[in-house]
Amino acid sequence: MADQRRTARAPTGTHDILWPESWRWEVFVATFAEEAERAGYGLLQSPMFEYAEVFHRGIGEGSEVVGKEMYEFADRDGQVLALRPEGTASVVRAFVEHHPVPPFKAWYVTPAFRHERPQAGRYRQHHQVGVEAIGAADPDLDAEVVTLAHDFYRRLGLRDVTLKLNSMGDNTCRPAYIELLRGVLAERRDQLCEEHRQRLDTNPLRVLDCKREGCREATAEVPRLVDQLCDPCREHFDRVRQGLDALGVAYVLDHRLVRGFDYYTRTTFEFASGAIDAAQDAIGGGGRYDGLVEMLGGPPTPGIGFGIGLERVLIACTGEGVLPAEPPGPDAFVVDVAGGEMARDLVAALRRAGLRADRAYDGRSMKAQMKLADRSGATVALIVGPDELAGGTVTVRPLRAEGEQRSVPLERAVDEVAAVRMPAR
Ligand code: HAM
Repeated sequence: MADQRRTARAPTGTHDILWPESWRWEVFVATFAEEAERAGYGLLQSPMFEYAEVFHRGIGEGSEVVGKEMYEFADRDGQVLALRPEGTASVVRAFVEHHPVPPFKAWYVTPAFRHERPQAGRYRQHHQVGVEAIGAADPDLDAEVVTLAHDFYRRLGLRDVTLKLNSMGDNTCRPAYIELLRGVLAERRDQLCEEHRQRLDTNPLRVLDCKREGCREATAEVPRLVDQLCDPCREHFDRVRQGLDALGVAYVLDHRLVRGFDYYTRTTFEFASGAIDAAQDAIGGGGRYDGLVEMLGGPPTPGIGFGIGLERVLIACTGEGVLPAEPPGPDAFVVDVAGGEMARDLVAALRRAGLRADRAYDGRSMKAQMKLADRSGATVALIVGPDELAGGTVTVRPLRAEGEQRSVPLERAVDEVAAVRMPAR
């Protein structure tokens, strides 16, 4: 016998999204697609899994995502694959494989898989929309990319969003900063949490975004990377900030924002929602990755992008009371208690005329069909009983529309519904 605990339940950390919640997903993705395409990004579809090597090389062995959370497996041919834990490495791999003319501007919507400890706003399969712009180093592009995410949140109606901004420097200035930081923190090693005491030697930057008390205190007064940038990185960052100012995008500088992937260089950013629990308040993030194309075997090519967490943004929308899960109901619900042929033919005629139409099945009673009509959220019910059938008419009963119940000739039924849906201006 099948184990009910396994066969009747989605795996830990994953969810089914049912209607009408799924309608919010549709609006979310359609809105993002419109914003991204308006800015010149085209949809990229790539496989949900890659050779694990892509993520090992691209994201880095030292990152939590690759080191601890990746769904990595050997397939039946013994190839080592991994379910995508994020979108960027795949887009860059596709860029290297197909070498499109730069700048290559791609947007995507994708599930991402991370074996994390599930909690509200943290899942093992979450979903992201994002963009990647590969092949331009221009700091105005950074400002443009950040603005795209910012404007998207605003368009959804979110207002309680804080943009955090930082620069990770590059291979010229960052190594020296890491040494400096390691030296300072080594003197405060006793204060650090267990995990970071051990990781101090390999990756002292991670200590900066540790939330534990000891690490917070140890890093309160440390040199900041933004103050140690080399001249080209400093100029780049200044221009990004000027761009954001010019475009009316407010931000706070956050020297603790180091992000979890090894590929970042220069500009990094994250959006935090004030409407979500602080632990999971990041509703999107991204940055520049000027070395990633090369790491995956391509020519030196700069790039920048972001990923936005769909579930978390929807939690924020709920928190702020925007984007409610209220999809429009059908324009008409056909109630047929005269044999069903009219329901069959009318819903087809309505749908072919571009209207939203639904019906009941299995010869339900008038009462049961009217209940379904009401529950569907339909604007009107089109009722066909024996009298209507005999007289070639349909009864139009407004459920959400204005007006009285009326009888109309069958051949006028579609026009009646269209008129209610699209009243003459
Ligand atoms: P990330 O910050 O790891 O960046 O993920 C982007 C967003 O996905 C997060 O801000 C968060 O909203 C959401 N997210 C991440 N993990 C989870 C989870 N376990 N459950 C629910 N939501 C989650 C990236 O993935 C980079 N690829 C972004 C990027 C694009 N950088 C450059 N280009």
